[in-house]
Amino acid sequence: MSAPAAPLVLGIETSCDETAVALVDRAGCVLGHKLRSQIAEHEPYGGVVPELAARAHLVHLPRLTRALLAETGIAPEAVDAVAATLGPGLIGGLLVGAGFGKALALAWGKPFLGINHLEAHALTARLPGLAAPPPSFPYLLLLVSGGHCLFVAVEGPGRHVVLGRGLDDAPGEVFDKVAKMLDLPWPGGPAVERLAREGDPRRFALPQPLKGRAGCDCSFAGLKTAVATRLAECPPAERDAHFAADLAASFQEAVAAALADRARNALARFREEWPEGESFVVAGGVAANAAIRAALAAAADKAGLRFLAPPPALCTDNAVMVAWAGIERLRAGAAGDDLALPARPRWPLAAPAA
Ligand code: KG4
Ligand code: ZN
Repeated sequence: MSAPAAPLVLGIETSCDETAVALVDRAGCVLGHKLRSQIAEHEPYGGVVPELAARAHLVHLPRLTRALLAETGIAPEAVDAVAATLGPGLIGGLLVGAGFGKALALAWGKPFLGINHLEAHALTARLPGLAAPPPSFPYLLLLVSGGHCLFVAVEGPGRHVVLGRGLDDAPGEVFDKVAKMLDLPWPGGPAVERLAREGDPRRFALPQPLKGRAGCDCSFAGLKTAVATRLAECPPAERDAHFAADLAASFQEAVAAALADRARNALARFREEWPEGESFVVAGGVAANAAIRAALAAAADKAGLRFLAPPPALCTDNAVMVAWAGIERLRAGAAGDDLALPARPRWPLAAPAA
């Protein structure tokens, strides 16, 4: 193996229910990565239990990091910086990752980088090797996850202009709630997508909130209620064999169409205000959904922008994106953050770290 291209960064992600560590270099080479999902811990509760999440991060993060270093053969001296997610997210997990990352940086005498989780999602598509050439700044980003729905003009690390946001439930949250209504396992997104594959998306006419309205804010609470109403209208004994799959497919189609409708407005504004921009990037857990990717790709195509979506494993939470965000910040001239920089449960994308 050739020597890593400096800087080589250790990334740490503990903001929600994935404990993850990764070693990534400037060339985008992932020297190694480890990810332990906590699905088994939280599944019985139908959602993430913050206290259990923090405890699991505390148990597994040191073990995963030791294994990562041992398996890659990378010595601490060869690591140029330690990057850990500082927010937004669940504070218990953030404190574990931040404390661990800061301790390593201090012990190894390396810079510490406190990473905004949303920015890590936002920059993932620029990881060399994913798309040739990687999207250059500025690009339009749609970040769709369990907690967020944001249209953003990404101008560079730390330089983001929010064009539109979710007004109520985030798309991933609605996938999770609809899955619960359909008695599917948690997390709901992948389960709904699997079931929807067997269903007819035209069977149920569901609302596409804000369709046709100006701007690119998003709303999904009404769609969630509409699914609940369809279920309430048809008691289990009266449902045919395709009922659940058709409802899942109709719901997924409505989310995809609503996002594509909002994306059309965002694309038009982006083209007008950032005429040099060439790409439309989708990121975050919900971006793993194939139907949603296809609807957004079509919208980008119509607007004449290149469409990019990281592979599904890099859309959902991971540490590769955290390490890469650290590299982007180093390349932009960052020297490292103060170890006193606190973890932040709320940290809007456009706000500075301090
Ligand atoms: O980005 P992420 O891993 O964590 C957050 O930062 O929120 O996103 C998790 C969300 C969950 O709500 C999950 O159900 C959803 O992304 N998700 C999906 C799919 N895979 C994950 N939603 C729809 N389709 C999928 N294939
Ligand atoms: Zn995320």
